[in-house]
Amino acid sequence: MDKICVVGGKPLCGELCVKNAKNAVLPMLGAVLLCKEPMTIPDCPHLLDVDNMCAILNHLGSECIWNGDSLMVCTEGANKYEMPDKIARELRSSIFMLGPVLARFGHAIFSYPGGCDIGSRPIDMHLKGLRALNVEIKEEGGHIYCDGGKMKGASIHLDYPSVGATENLMMAATAAEGVTTINNAAREPEIEALADALNSMGARVTGAGTSSVTIIGKLPLHKGEFLPLPDRIVAGTFLTAAAVTGGDVTVKGARGDHLHSVLSKLEECGCRVIAQKGEVRCIGPARPKELHLVETSPYPGFPTDMQAVFMALCTIANGTSIIFENVFDSRFRIAAELACMGATITVKDRMAIVRGVDRLNGANVNACDLRAGAALVISGLRAEGLTTVFNAQVIDRGYEAIEDTLSMLGANVVRVSGD
Ligand code: UD1
Repeated sequence: MDKICVVGGKPLCGELCVKNAKNAVLPMLGAVLLCKEPMTIPDCPHLLDVDNMCAILNHLGSECIWNGDSLMVCTEGANKYEMPDKIARELRSSIFMLGPVLARFGHAIFSYPGGCDIGSRPIDMHLKGLRALNVEIKEEGGHIYCDGGKMKGASIHLDYPSVGATENLMMAATAAEGVTTINNAAREPEIEALADALNSMGARVTGAGTSSVTIIGKLPLHKGEFLPLPDRIVAGTFLTAAAVTGGDVTVKGARGDHLHSVLSKLEECGCRVIAQKGEVRCIGPARPKELHLVETSPYPGFPTDMQAVFMALCTIANGTSIIFENVFDSRFRIAAELACMGATITVKDRMAIVRGVDRLNGANVNACDLRAGAALVISGLRAEGLTTVFNAQVIDRGYEAIEDTLSMLGANVVRVSGD
């Protein structure tokens, strides 16, 4: 088990570059199965989730080759359609393989996916959508057996704009006879990035980024291009870290237009935010003001993936803040960890009331999930004394060596690997 040790007290200052978004790269690592030619993802982040997706692709018979920050995947040899149980159970995004595996082989055998422990993460909408595409699905002994030999286009309504279900169904629909429309689709920038990639491969996907996405199926697909999409959550995390520490951080490559809801909250708590082409800068106040309401919702609303780091911000704000978590049902587990550092948080169902304190104390805390882990490290930067964040490898699922980036920005932080 890795731990990250932070000695607080220094404002974060400087610049960092943001790479392609994890949440855009993961579905792309499913989409590569839609053609037999090698595809390359440039500027690909070296993350645990990416490694796990590569392990799944390798297991299916593909080859993944890193060349610096470029990841090439060659699926010509792919010849299996059964997911490796262990990795699939650990990784929620393994579900992104379901649509492409069905499109490629007409069959798929899956296990229920795992991922961060942030509440129940069912896949009912994925399966309902696939059934609408005429996929026969049997669920038995923790496995899902799918026969998609005769996929047909359909009009699908999602009960909730699920990011993963929208992406999975878009990829499956490329192999369905006729036209598929996904209504109440998710509108995240990552959906548009996937649509652009599919279109560059010869697919016809329209409406991505709106609530209605249409796919014309059965077009011949060939290798295509993955256009860059900077990681808005990584960018938002470091900009918020500037707010927590009273620092001055510029994220090169960040897109302000993908971060409206986050940047407006940073301004509300007293930060100076300068968003221009190709970068976003945040200058934090000595002590942030309270936030009357932070409420997570699907894009373009405030992202659930930024909720934990905003809770960290609110713990040292000058007043009482209210946070509502509307996307996942168990994403306040960080509150108990922050309490060990002296934070005052009351959680009631989906609402957290955070009473700002003058100072946090260093403590031993546990990275209960990916984003919470990053938020605890950032809280440690503001706390007095030493904070040790245990289970730190979970942070590697979404941030490349977070301790190196923070050190570069002047933080006093090290990782200790092993038990
Ligand atoms: C994606 C992101 C994740 C982000 C989340 C919400 C990736 C790899 N991950 O996750 O970082 O936090 O979007 O922005 O892109 N749901 C169901 N049934 C389903 C599918 C989802 O009930 O079949 C529920 C989930 O439990 C959750 C909500 O819908 O409450 C949103 O989930 P979804 O948008 O699907 O998130 P993911 O795609 O898993």
